[in-house]
Amino acid sequence: MATRVAAIPPSAPTRRVQTPPCTLVVFGAGGDLSRRKLLPALYNLAMGGTLPDRFALLGVARRGLTNEAFREEMRAAVSEFSRRRLDPELWRRFAEGVDYVSGDFEDGASFERVSARLQQLDHRFGLEGNRLFYLATPPTEFGTILRGLKRAGLIHPPGAGPWSRVILEKPFGRDLESARSLNRLAAEVLDESQIFRIDHYLGKETVQNILVLRFANSIFEPLWNRKYVDYVEICALETVGVGTRGKFYDQTGVLRDIVQNHLLEVLALTAMEPPTTGGADDIRSEKLKVLNALRDPWSDTIRRDVVLGQYRGYREEPGVAPDSMVPTYAALRVFVDNWRWQGVPFYLRTGKKLKKRATEVSVHLQPIPLSLFGRPDVCEFVKPNVLTLRIQPDEGIQLEFASKVPGDDFMVGALTMDMKYTEAFGGEPPEAYERLLLDAMRGDATLFSRRDWVETSWGWIDPIVRYFEEHAAGPFPNYEPGSWGPAHCDEWMRGEHRTWREP
Ligand code: BG6
Repeated sequence: MATRVAAIPPSAPTRRVQTPPCTLVVFGAGGDLSRRKLLPALYNLAMGGTLPDRFALLGVARRGLTNEAFREEMRAAVSEFSRRRLDPELWRRFAEGVDYVSGDFEDGASFERVSARLQQLDHRFGLEGNRLFYLATPPTEFGTILRGLKRAGLIHPPGAGPWSRVILEKPFGRDLESARSLNRLAAEVLDESQIFRIDHYLGKETVQNILVLRFANSIFEPLWNRKYVDYVEICALETVGVGTRGKFYDQTGVLRDIVQNHLLEVLALTAMEPPTTGGADDIRSEKLKVLNALRDPWSDTIRRDVVLGQYRGYREEPGVAPDSMVPTYAALRVFVDNWRWQGVPFYLRTGKKLKKRATEVSVHLQPIPLSLFGRPDVCEFVKPNVLTLRIQPDEGIQLEFASKVPGDDFMVGALTMDMKYTEAFGGEPPEAYERLLLDAMRGDATLFSRRDWVETSWGWIDPIVRYFEEHAAGPFPNYEPGSWGPAHCDEWMRGEHRTWREP
């Protein structure tokens, strides 16, 4: 059943923020991230008219390339990966502000060249000295780049005058210790207000919509707690495998790759208390409280609360060890021990090479206390209500509820009310990187991970990761590509007297 949704009329006040002129400097330009995500995002912002009028992009990488060759590569990347078709005239105008500097990040002279080129760009386009540095490199390079920037005088302290900000791409470390040292290193060069740690999940429209759904609709708040919610499922299921990232993934695994960041972020937005204001720090502080309330994993409960898997064929992927015990699938039962959620299980589930791609949050409400519709075959159809936020694909919100089936018999049917984002708002939602790049240019850190968040999330997941590094979760591989994951994970859920919701 589809529901018509009236979008907010265009006359309603909207939050339009001016984006100041700036240069975006991408270290590691030409790599996968800039080709697949950053360039297409910038191009789409240009197409939507939201990129500042005065803007330049400076790519920095080791490869010796001319400006022309770099622009050509970026044009090819945009044609391949942009959600909108490349318009040659728009690209021509956009590419006028695209430059490239080659150099080794270890070499101070590279930063001198970057500095000189930035001054030229400032002069040419009137960019007022504002700079956003994007470190699209492995984290092992962060220290070298940050120190190089500092030594070349490219980082201005926050305050009046031109601003300098740095975007760090995940992973932010691989455990609590490395996250702390990364944070210390960044703090040597930057103030926390200048650091933008990207978890691209937060830039997804539908992830942001969790906040709007919860706090702009009074219908949900009274139900959003242990009195009415039976359990919550949060899943991020992927059909893809590790592809060309085998080497990285085999040192990372699903707990570090998706659970520590994306799933905990979505969990926090789902479970958090209303913030005092919509400001970045109020929202981020409320999210942090959720992390602080997570029940600590104890070594004697980890095996009961966590199920891991590895897809058949993973060990044959390029870069993966032939006897790898790294998990590509995880299901966790998590408790948020606070007044609102005490006793309500949150089931987190994610994996690669599964049957269907779907990221969803499903809030399962408690069953009705008593069926008034006596006959057993009628009761069978009185299913508990489920509110599902479809984060991707087919973005939307659906509510499952019971209704009388028309007719002279008393039959109860299960119905679904479905709001589809594309139908309601016309068109696909923008890509996460579009929103995040724009927010960083505007200095809005709401959708970026704060230092304390990063360290607290590692502190929570570290014991789980370590436990399975010391105790085999296997035998692996234990699930077939194209399945729903390890069969014993379904049994595990049945043991909870529940079944996974099929997306
Ligand atoms: C990345 C992970 O952070 O998120 C990948 O490293 C994963 O392993 C990806 O595939 C999923 O993101 P999305 O936006 O495709 O759901």
